Amino acid sequence: MANLTVNLDRRLSHINPEVYGNFSEHLGHCIYDGIYVGESSAIPNVNGMRSDIVAALKAIHLPVLRWPGGCFADTYHWEDGIGPRQTRKRMVNTHWGGVVEDNAFGTHEFFEFCRQVGCEPYINGNLGSGTVREMSEWVEYMTFDGLSPMSQRRQANGQSEPWHLKYFGIGNENWGCGGNMRPTYYADVYRRYQTYVRNYGKNQIFKIACGPNSDDYAWTEELMKQAGHYMDGLSLHYYTVNGDWEHKGAATGFSKADWYQTLKKTLYMEDLIRGHLAVMDRYDPEHKVGLIIDEWGTWFDVEPGTNPGFLYQQNTTRDALVAAVNYNIFNKHSDRIPMTNLAQLVNVLQALILTDGEQMLLTPTYFVADLYQHHQGADLLESMVDTQLVGQDESALVPNLSESASVSADGTVNVTLANLAADRPAAVQVQLTGRAAAAYTLAEARILAGDSDCLDLHNSFAEPQTVRPADFAAQVSSARPGQFRLQLPAASVLLLRFSQARES
Ligand code: AHR
Repeated sequence: MANLTVNLDRRLSHINPEVYGNFSEHLGHCIYDGIYVGESSAIPNVNGMRSDIVAALKAIHLPVLRWPGGCFADTYHWEDGIGPRQTRKRMVNTHWGGVVEDNAFGTHEFFEFCRQVGCEPYINGNLGSGTVREMSEWVEYMTFDGLSPMSQRRQANGQSEPWHLKYFGIGNENWGCGGNMRPTYYADVYRRYQTYVRNYGKNQIFKIACGPNSDDYAWTEELMKQAGHYMDGLSLHYYTVNGDWEHKGAATGFSKADWYQTLKKTLYMEDLIRGHLAVMDRYDPEHKVGLIIDEWGTWFDVEPGTNPGFLYQQNTTRDALVAAVNYNIFNKHSDRIPMTNLAQLVNVLQALILTDGEQMLLTPTYFVADLYQHHQGADLLESMVDTQLVGQDESALVPNLSESASVSADGTVNVTLANLAADRPAAVQVQLTGRAAAAYTLAEARILAGDSDCLDLHNSFAEPQTVRPADFAAQVSSARPGQFRLQLPAASVLLLRFSQARES
């Protein structure tokens, strides 16, 4: 029996809702067909935005969305995406499939989508191929609250009020697709560009510098040393790649060894966070700069027969476990991680949603975001769980359980627990401790259950309801106040919620 202890008297940090953010790039069918179909589409939409997608994202309270890239961001010229659609300039999307982008979805459309969903916009500016003036004027266009050349253009294009814009990224992967820069050079260019990213009126911008790729601690060191005082956040990109970049492995039809290898690589996120935070601490002992993990998730080979540049992959219970493990890690580091952005929202990489024409399906990853949404804006509680190493071979052993716990503003306690074992259920005893622990009873239990005989369980357009959360309350027993027992099936993700019994 594994003990999972939650100390209700130890609130460790606040979990910013944006920890559960997402990312939408002009890549494959994320924006076009995924989010945006245009006003004249037969697919139900409001102002061109798919109503089914907006409803699904509202249901999980998507807190923040990053746009327009990714690598695309450093090729994007915002002025091409405003004004009458028929006159918008076209461009070649050189990073993603070489398709011609007609710029139908631009700044106004992005803010409209965020308005409908109710999420914060996070815009990534173009440092790689754009000018300082271009970036500066984009910020003025979006946020200037008086009469200026840019605000008048915005008004002429139908938006009289400035938009609220908090998060702004100054370049993306500038060590690679964003200009192949060296850290010292980027640090100087960053300092220059960010100077002209102004706060207008009440709008306060949280400036995010391009951070390291995976374990490039030298990049973090140089950025913090040369430019740490000019940023609010430093980004980190780390993808879970089962194989290597040449042969990433399939999203479905994988072996048990692949299952464990993928989870082991996911757990590496913990090492990366600790490693980069240790470097950041040396230059920022007061912890003014947040670590923003604005690209993470699984990256598999594309589905056979699909455009290799579109990064379209299926999504299984393995992806659900990857999301659950990452979210538990992020919760536990929420004192230093104010935002993360899973890549990506629809039809790309570890997507929440897949679409096919007018059809759409919710992936296992979506349901993890659904179960975990209660952590948004809650306070992290001290928690720990006993674990055993499990795996197919010695090279990829992982702890069988991953957990985190929080308390919401209304006092409800949220516990999320994942069983990483492919074929071994786990007997778990949840012990709430602290002054009022005995007063708590189970309010809700929901599980996203995997299947040991079918590790690549997934939803398809033919069978879109195969993987769905189910009620698990009947499987949770309580012998003593504040103590709960359950048998967690293999390959599963569980949400438990506890609340204080009301006095009658
Ligand atoms: O998310 C896909 C791509 O991955 C992004 O465009 C880029 O930033 C990263 O390499």
